[in-house]
Amino acid sequence: MRTLTRPPTLPDEAYALLLDWLPTNDDPERPVVTLATVDEDGAPDARSVLLSELDRKGVYVHTDASSRKVAQLAANPAVAVVARWPERQRQLVVRGVAEPAPASETDRAYARRSLYLRRLAWLNTTSVAAMPADERRAAWATFVATHQVLKPPPTWVGFLVRPTSLTFWTGDDASVSHRREHRFDGTDWTITELPG
Ligand SMILES: Cc1cc2nc3c(=O)[nH]c(=O)nc-3n(C[C@H](O)[C@H](O)[C@H](O)COP(=O)(O)O)c2cc1C
Repeated sequence: MRTLTRPPTLPDEAYALLLDWLPTNDDPERPVVTLATVDEDGAPDARSVLLSELDRKGVYVHTDASSRKVAQLAANPAVAVVARWPERQRQLVVRGVAEPAPASETDRAYARRSLYLRRLAWLNTTSVAAMPADERRAAWATFVATHQVLKPPPTWVGFLVRPTSLTFWTGDDASVSHRREHRFDGTDWTITELPG
């Protein structure tokens, strides 16, 4: 595994901005973000995921242990997360290092997911994916009929993305777009103002 500097907790201003820009952890409307990883050949990979939670250490995402991204993160924990709010003219780019989230956090995140997503976490398997559409629907209906209270499946895993940089982009119709970047240089956090 590549070793990357594990950054400390977020600086006050960046954390305050994250709290301002992202929904509170108990808000059921989770932001959809792009999670970029590096594959085994060093090529970029990316997909949409829900941003589950935020704390002073960073942001959390959740997925299935058998997914490609999990194998990629085990080999190389370098990640980027991009969130966008077109109606607010805002973009957030987080680059950082992913590490497994503690069980208490992954359980909490699972409990906060919608009923549909809690069920999906159980049925999002390669065997179900290989079925024809009508069989997939039948498997879903059977699962719904036979499972009322759901715990996380053993394949439910979470990652804490510890930021090494956070770039807050703002657009302005009456002016230039602008970025304020917080970067951890291995010792301290610095702030740089950048063109959009
Ligand atoms: C709006 C949206 C939200 C998604 N949220 C998640 C998520 O929170 N976790 C997840 O594992 N996959 C989520 N997915 C599916 C992923 O985009 C992806 O297809 C899946 O995780 C497999 O990715 P991988 O093969 O790169 O690991 C979401 C897809 C969409 C379109």
